[in-house]
Amino acid sequence: MTSSKKVRKAVLPVAGLGTRFLPGTKAVPKEMLNIVDKPVVQYVVEEAMAAGIEHVVFVTGRNKAVIEDHFDIQYELNDTLKNRGKNAELEMLNSMLPKAGATSFTRQQEPLGLGHAVWCARDIIGDEPFALLLPDMVMQDKQGCLSGMMDLYNNTGGNVISVEEVAMEDAHKYGVVGVGEELDGGFEITGMVEKPARGSEPSNLFINGRYILQPEIFDILETQERGAGNEIQITDAMLKLADQQKFSGYRFEGNTYDCGTKQGFILANVAYAMERDDIRGLVEDDIKKLVG
Ligand code: UTP
Repeated sequence: MTSSKKVRKAVLPVAGLGTRFLPGTKAVPKEMLNIVDKPVVQYVVEEAMAAGIEHVVFVTGRNKAVIEDHFDIQYELNDTLKNRGKNAELEMLNSMLPKAGATSFTRQQEPLGLGHAVWCARDIIGDEPFALLLPDMVMQDKQGCLSGMMDLYNNTGGNVISVEEVAMEDAHKYGVVGVGEELDGGFEITGMVEKPARGSEPSNLFINGRYILQPEIFDILETQERGAGNEIQITDAMLKLADQQKFSGYRFEGNTYDCGTKQGFILANVAYAMERDDIRGLVEDDIKKLVG
């Protein structure tokens, strides 16, 4: 039977090394790099909360304690802001705090792959479906990618994966899905292939970093089988789960910025600056001049 239990919890794996951003990520986790004035990870937590998520599980690693601090009260700072009459800033900090008890932090002791990071959250998630959001992927969209996925999940139950169009000639660089019957708000997924050989791509819809998964995924991850790069891969586990359970695809039509890459991170900064009334006027002309 297809489960359609409520999705209350989200997993954010933040234990990666971030080697593509060295030396910037030597002491600062890549998830804490700022897009305009907010860390990457906060955009993703806000997307999760807007979709009705009640509890966020961070899977962290060494040097990531600052992420935990970011989602906690900073008494000294609050006091200083209060004494200086900086009420707007104080209010803003208070409004972004998750509810007490609505976050958990667990450690992935070794970076053995994304699948392994997700498995580290198994005890905190328990026997219920959960959302998985890759914090590298920042999704700019009015509705919020996960909110759109939740609408589809409420129709279909089972597992839901967000996908996005890419030029067909680039599809071989990604994990892509096969497209079956159209559903209300999505489609049936008939297959998933990680980096397909050129000419054998089942579609140009790539998996872009948002998932709703059933807890049976943990039983599969438990086997700790290594895949590409000798890492425990979430895609391998999803492929096995697809033999037993339904997977539906959600076509995301907003803008995705892969903030694990330099170009994605820079573009995200420009895109979010252009959305902000207080910044756009200050930088728009200069950006145009810079890029000619
Ligand atoms: P990446 O493939 O971007 O790896 O991980 P990375 O180590 O973070 O970055 P680079 O490639 O060295 O620059 C994708 C997502 O999976 C998480 C990362 O934190 C990121 O959110 N991840 C990856 C883990 O939590 N643990 C792992 O073992 C691997």
